[in-house]
Amino acid sequence: MVGVLKVILLLFVSYTSGKVLDRYYPRYHLAPPYGWMNDPNGFCVFNNEVHMFYQHNPDSSVKPGYAQWGHATSKDFFHWKHQPIAMRTDMPYDSCGAFSGSSLIENNIMYVFYTGNVIYPGKTPDHQNRQALAFSTDGINFIKYASNPIITGYMNTPDIRDPKVWKHDGTYYMVLGSSVNNQTHGGIGNILLYSSPDKFTWNYVSVLAQANGTFGFMWECPDLFELDGKYVLLFSPQGVKASGDRYQNVYQTGYFIGDFDYSTLKFTPTSEFVELDNGHDFYATQTTLDNFGRRIVVGWMDMWYRDYPEGPDGFTGILTMPRELRLLNGKIVQLPLAELSSIRGRQVLPINGYYILCDKAGEVDVFADGLLNFQLYIESENVKVTLSYDAVNGKVTLDRGGKDSIRRTEWRPASGQLKWRVFVDASSIELFCGEGEVTFSSRFFPEGAVVIYQRGTAVLTVHEILRSMPRPT
Ligand code: FRU
Repeated sequence: MVGVLKVILLLFVSYTSGKVLDRYYPRYHLAPPYGWMNDPNGFCVFNNEVHMFYQHNPDSSVKPGYAQWGHATSKDFFHWKHQPIAMRTDMPYDSCGAFSGSSLIENNIMYVFYTGNVIYPGKTPDHQNRQALAFSTDGINFIKYASNPIITGYMNTPDIRDPKVWKHDGTYYMVLGSSVNNQTHGGIGNILLYSSPDKFTWNYVSVLAQANGTFGFMWECPDLFELDGKYVLLFSPQGVKASGDRYQNVYQTGYFIGDFDYSTLKFTPTSEFVELDNGHDFYATQTTLDNFGRRIVVGWMDMWYRDYPEGPDGFTGILTMPRELRLLNGKIVQLPLAELSSIRGRQVLPINGYYILCDKAGEVDVFADGLLNFQLYIESENVKVTLSYDAVNGKVTLDRGGKDSIRRTEWRPASGQLKWRVFVDASSIELFCGEGEVTFSSRFFPEGAVVIYQRGTAVLTVHEILRSMPRPT
């Protein structure tokens, strides 16, 4: 009864005043000031500032609505400043959503390529995606191109979206996610390649990569970039069936490593599809190159069709920490950015083996014997998350309790020494194993303080992480 009253009260507070409660709101990850957030968009560095846009419904925290582009800026990837909404759904070609896309900086102008979504109730197909362009000279105010849309369609598919644009040797290239024959979700996921001499007129080049009939009906949010001498095709397939420990989420994000030849414009995969993250909540990534040449990725740390308790608190969705990508032994590794040191707070000392994070935000560094089993517990009054290492089978498991609790993958420490970095932030956990060969990103919803302790003989070093996000109001 008390629980029901509590929920009614929370709903009342958030719906009537647009207020956001602090208990699950991130201290150092980006979340919307109020409302709904899904994919990161247009991630770039412009005039020495990091710009992050995101799919946003400013009117509701419990439904995506018609996506607009929310916006935040930062000097260091951790201290974010909310900015006015960058793009609204105010044109005939984007009236039901300014869907995901990317930025390209040229001559001090930020060009933003995105997908306009229009819904046609009762018609077949009942929606259509078209690609559009907008620009900004100050990174805050955007003007939509008068001759939009710039790409209207491909093989009659209504699902063709999420342009990622880059420039190479004077030519512009775009990859788009799509589905062919997708009327009943029986289609085939595709990544299409387009090119342009000027950013405004676009020509279809080819199907760059395609599902083989079993690997998804739609591929979203594609990205193609060079990394340490190879090419990475990163995307988010929908409709891949779970198989053992793999593909446990409703949708995935992962990559092929391969070669891309600009003379033939062909991508040749040289690896299997690998999931970029192994947790419950990781989807629809964006990458950018920063001023130091680092390839940095962010993902939406949430997942479609979740029903998390943050919604009634006034917000849904946070982004992962920005992470640097490198290639190591043919696989992507992800590394927390060095900028984290600017928000690392005091060291937390244990009391009888228990480390207490009063503001629920901290970093736990673990060093343990890689030949022994190990468990780390992250616990509060209502929830217990267990991170465990199974030395016999070489597996890492994140168990957050409740329904669909477990995510697991293979990993063994390369050096014989187990090394983990764990980041806790009010309602999220990110685990980096070893040199970032394996990561887990999952949400959890702790009440009160968070307590950390181990079963094992590891050396734990725990630091608080200071608030760098504006407090919700
Ligand atoms: C991925 C996605 C994109 C689309 C956007 C709409 O989560 O479905 O394909 O552009 O979300 O909000």
